[in-house]
Amino acid sequence: MSRARLAVIISGAGSNMLAIDDACRQGALHADVVCVISNRADAAGLAHAAARGIPNYLVAPTAGELRESYDERLAAAIQAATVDYVVLAGYMRILSHDFVREFAGRLLNIHPSLLPAYKGLHTHRRVIEAGETQHGATVHFVTAELDGGPRILRGVLTLSPTDDEESLQRRVQRIEHVIYPEALELLARGRLRQLDTGAELDGQTLVEPLERRFDF
Ligand code: GRF
Repeated sequence: MSRARLAVIISGAGSNMLAIDDACRQGALHADVVCVISNRADAAGLAHAAARGIPNYLVAPTAGELRESYDERLAAAIQAATVDYVVLAGYMRILSHDFVREFAGRLLNIHPSLLPAYKGLHTHRRVIEAGETQHGATVHFVTAELDGGPRILRGVLTLSPTDDEESLQRRVQRIEHVIYPEALELLARGRLRQLDTGAELDGQTLVEPLERRFDF
């Protein structure tokens, strides 16, 4: 089975991108990060990708550019790299329906909450304010519904009384760096696919996402 070709799309630090690339290089993920694309010139992840010799591109929105036009340019950059999967990793723009349709079944995201709870921004703060005892991150297929596509794998932690927004951000990111490569490996091995109604693992409908618990 040939190695899966991944495009990783970022807006920031790119720590998930680095964890995915590490997993590829260490043999835990049967794939290669063949390009990294950012919408922001100041995304540190671009320089990290360059330092590793990964082809990296800035696709910056122009002033007043419509989402559809931007997404067409982003899609063209991805298509030029001939990839199997498009991996959103800290990409902070909402995608157009056409973009989601073009890459349906091949488009993934990681979100810092136990989806379907706490879609959107500031998840750590909202989790603390709500007095939750559990939190974590979720890898999911991307559909037109924001943070709403079929869920694949969740990493769960138990909040400690001393947790604040910053500690949760740190703890959840460590989880992300484990579960994103793990979910991608299922895809790369052809074990996982998106269906119209959800996801299928080893030929069985994934009724609930896979779950890993972490105590760090
Ligand atoms: C991650 O925490 C991810 O859940 C969220 O954005 C963050 C990106 O971090 N969507 P990084 O750029 O991968 O370091």
